[in-house]
This record gives sequence, C-alpha cells and structure tokens, in this order.
Amino acid sequence: MIKGIFLGGHQGQWRVESMQTQRGEPLPAVSHLHSADTTENWQSAGFAWCLQGVTSSVRYTTQTEQAFLQQHQPPLHRPEATRAALIPIRKSAAWWDLAQDERRAIFEEQSHHIALGTTAFPAVARRLFHARDLGEPFDFLTWFEYAPEHVTLFEELVGALRATREWQYVEREIDIRLHFLG
Ligand code: HEM
Repeated sequence: MIKGIFLGGHQGQWRVESMQTQRGEPLPAVSHLHSADTTENWQSAGFAWCLQGVTSSVRYTTQTEQAFLQQHQPPLHRPEATRAALIPIRKSAAWWDLAQDERRAIFEEQSHHIALGTTAFPAVARRLFHARDLGEPFDFLTWFEYAPEHVTLFEELVGALRATREWQYVEREIDIRLHFLG
C-alpha cells in the first residue's frame, strides 16, 4: 500500500499549469502542488488543501488485463515525464448502489476504460489512489505522468473517457495539470 498525499498551495515540486473543474464543487485555486510524505501541519505550513488516498487491490481488472497492465505500463518518475495530471474524482451514489458485476460491465464492456487507457502506453504512467474509505471528499485521486510531446495524446484519452457511460456516474472532477520543477 502506497500513500498519496497532495498539498495545494504556493510551494511544491509541481507548478500548477491549469485547474479545471469538470463537474461539481471546485477546489480553491493554487499555484503549486506538493507531493508530501505526511499530512502533519499542512495548514500551519500555509497549504490551501490536502488530498490523500492509498493504493489498493484491483476491483474490476481481469487476470488477463492485469497481466497486460503489469507487462506494459510504464513506471512513474521517468526523467522525461515532466508533465503530470492530478484528477480527483467522486462518483455518484447511483454508482456505489450498483452490484460489482454491473460496475465492471459499465467500466469495461460498455466504456472500455482499460482498452482506451492502454492505448496511451507507454507514453502515460499512472497510479490510482482510493480515498472513499478514508472519508475524503473524493473517491479517487488519479495521477498521470507523461512527457511534453504526449500532452495531446493524454488530452484525447481524457476526452474519450469523459464521453463514456462510466463518466455519467462522475459527480465531481477537478482536472489539475502540472509541470515538474524538481
Ligand atoms: C493511462 C491510461 C489508463 C489506464 C491504463 C487506466 C486503467 C485503469 C484500471 C485498470 C482501473 C481499474 C482498477 C481496478 O480494477 O480497480 C482504473 C480505474 C480508474 N481509472 Fe483509469 N486508466 C487510465 C486512465 C485514466 C484517466 C485519464 C482517468 C481520469 C480522467 C482515469 C480514472 C480512473 C478512475 C476514477 C478509476 C477508478 C474507477 C472505479 O473504481 O470506480 N483513468 N483505470
């Protein structure tokens, strides 16, 4: 289990290039994002917000898909991947009321989330943090890293996903684009 702690404020390793509220309530605008090891003292350190999540076991992925992902997905922290996106997402009560097999069918058979996502390999590296069970304002913190020449590819992927049936269940989504400062 890996913790993801993201602090929005006026300092951090990432400069905020844009912050777009796709759906629901916005987050306060910030100029920088700090990827932190701890949530301690984030308010007294002057940050405007703190989002956290943890990696977890897969919910929807089949064994074949999982094997494909493990074999083909690029690692995080590649030196050339100086662009990133943090996209916190909350899904609706209607989504969480569905049975597991119904959610899987919407996720992949109808929305082709994995099939679409894997077309962005090896350009886009990803990590999914779960936040719902931590009582956080978002259910998921999704994190992506890519090189500047793959900005358009990532844009197309995000656009394709937002047009899916799965996204009809997204009730809050903030798209935060970042430049690595070191
Ligand atoms: C880079 C290509 C991508 C790949 C290969 C990919 C793959 C996956 C996989 C395999 C899962 C399911 C994990 C599980 O079984 O529990 C997942 C979940 C998720 N992905 Fe992606 N994804 C990609 C891009 C994106 C993008 C661009 C977004 C947001 C705009 C996104 C948002 C999510 C969310 C919110 C979940 C959690 C869904 C849920 O549990 O209800 N993904 N993704």
